[in-house]
Amino acid sequence: MGIATHEFEYLRKLVRDHSAIVLDADKAYLAESRLAGIATSNQCRTVSDLIFRLRTEPFHEAHGRVLDAMTNNETWFFRDLGPFLALERVIIPELLKKRAAEKRMRFWSAAASSGQEAYSVAMLLHSKFNLPGWDYVIRGTDISASILERARIGKYTQMEVNRGLPAALLARYFHREGCSWFISAEIKKKVAFESLNLAESWPTTGSFDVIFLRNVLIYLDMDTRRKILARVRQVLRPDGYLFLGCAESMLNLDDSFERIQFESSAYYRLKGQGR
Ligand SMILES: C[S@@+](CC[C@H](N)C(=O)[O-])C[C@H]1O[C@@H](n2cnc3c(N)ncnc32)[C@H](O)[C@@H]1O
Repeated sequence: MGIATHEFEYLRKLVRDHSAIVLDADKAYLAESRLAGIATSNQCRTVSDLIFRLRTEPFHEAHGRVLDAMTNNETWFFRDLGPFLALERVIIPELLKKRAAEKRMRFWSAAASSGQEAYSVAMLLHSKFNLPGWDYVIRGTDISASILERARIGKYTQMEVNRGLPAALLARYFHREGCSWFISAEIKKKVAFESLNLAESWPTTGSFDVIFLRNVLIYLDMDTRRKILARVRQVLRPDGYLFLGCAESMLNLDDSFERIQFESSAYYRLKGQGR
């Protein structure tokens, strides 16, 4: 038996108010399966009982767990590959020239989930480029504190390392403990994870050469997407590079960016920056 319409409406509002994520009506079936464990651990007999408690109690840990459970955290190493090829073949070589004087590059994985995107960038930089004397850092942010905790630990299952990660990089940058794989300290130290809700105000963090804003806008309402892109414009260096997810585009959102095709994928640059 699924949850009642008014219960799902409450969940939709909770999720939208806290993260700007719009849950489609056809996601009601997910609530029952994703929230069952949280109901049990909160001594609620059913998911409906849990929702009743959430509605009647001030925001506490269970609300946070429900928000996490209703969010799609799917990610994998070198997801879609194209962006990482563009990084390796075009963007990093260009940045190495453009930033030769300052020897500094900053990357941002803006919906980092469990860290695979940020660690993929770090592994690519470490394995493909010779960067002595260069100061580079990858910032990973996400709205979910629990997923960021996983990212910080850098611990992955066999299934996760089987997804997208070349065997040579697994052998070079991970070690195995039982059924888990841990990312090496040399890669971990290049990545800094912190909590950030993209739909709320952003702390001052300086500017970025490359921003990965992939597979998150798609879940947010149009107005929030526009606001986020306007802020991305402020923190992306004028000659910097932006990636969206492959199912995402700037259409009807922001016309200050130009789309640059790279093989079967694409990245964005602010208009007027030339190539
Ligand atoms: C599908 S994952 C994408 C991960 C990675 N960027 C990729 O493409 O593989 C979406 C992530 O966006 C995060 N997210 C959703 N709403 C957010 C918001 N308002 N602010 C920051 N992160 C958000 C979720 O917690 C989730 O980890």
